[in-house]
Amino acid sequence: MNYLVARSVMKRAVAGGHYVSSCAAAAGIRALTPLDVSAASGLEARGLSMVLIGWRRMMSTAAESSSTSAVAEKDDKSKSVTRKEEKGDVVVSSYWGISRPKVTREDGTEWPWNCFMPWETYRPDLSIDLTKHHVPKTFIDKVAYRTVKLLRIPTDIFFQRRYGCRAMMLETVAGVPGMVGGMLLHLRSLRKFEQSGGWIKALLEEAENERMHLMTMVELVQPKWYERLLVLTVQGVFFNAFFVLYMLSPKLAHRIVGYLEEEAIHSYTEFLKDIDSGAIENVPAPAIAIDYWRLPKDATLKDVITVIRADEAHHRDVNHFASDIHFQGKELRDSPAPIGYH
Ligand SMILES: [Fe+2]
Ligand SMILES: [Fe+2]
Repeated sequence: MNYLVARSVMKRAVAGGHYVSSCAAAAGIRALTPLDVSAASGLEARGLSMVLIGWRRMMSTAAESSSTSAVAEKDDKSKSVTRKEEKGDVVVSSYWGISRPKVTREDGTEWPWNCFMPWETYRPDLSIDLTKHHVPKTFIDKVAYRTVKLLRIPTDIFFQRRYGCRAMMLETVAGVPGMVGGMLLHLRSLRKFEQSGGWIKALLEEAENERMHLMTMVELVQPKWYERLLVLTVQGVFFNAFFVLYMLSPKLAHRIVGYLEEEAIHSYTEFLKDIDSGAIENVPAPAIAIDYWRLPKDATLKDVITVIRADEAHHRDVNHFASDIHFQGKELRDSPAPIGYH
């Protein structure tokens, strides 16, 4: 088997998201594609027992000729391997030389996460002022403030005091503005041959931080099918609306986010009240939260909500600050961005 064939096979295997053993790759043995699975028996007959097929593809091939129950079984197995993959139990082909060096915690134990690394973790500033509020003065401020207050009405009606569910759903929205703003500043930087003053990174950091809030909340509350449907709809509308808004008026867009963050602080404060009163059980903190916020091993849900609320206060300040920069007739790059908070 020559090098080109092996390379093309590996390309297809990697693109298809399935796994080929590194020994097969090293030996240049051809892995099977869906079109030539039927040739597998022939290959075996020729004694090529080292041919290893990505097992996901094997599962899907088998499913074509099996019953519905087999399909369900495939799904279960597929999910279990996806989980394994996330934990790093499945070794992906090293043909491309991509591998993650072993990362350990400070105490020497293995770092279990691939979605964030120890150097991306932090301790939030819990002394941040939670009561700060931008008093709406200009027409733009008032539009932003009213918009957020209006958006809160259906949220209050739908979720009421189910704060776990409410937080999880709102975090699916909260991760959008930073990504949209960061993306548009990125495109502007490319278009205008100019630096962003660190604001691309700052806004993308915010988006990532919001997504980590969601990854934490989802450990505590599993979304129901109609909530997933709601997220799908809301994301479709909100992403596009915010994208257009940011292009038309970044000043208004950042002000709206600033007020949304003020609402988030309020929601998390109510959440904490319900934990204190016993209405919400103060369960142990999820492992992902303990590592991400460098919490003590015996941290609880209350600790997690407290640090998330501090994050929201930081987002509030950043976004009101960004809106103020625009209000003063300047560009964001004229003021250094708050990078590295997270
Ligand atoms: Fe958040
Ligand atoms: Fe936030």
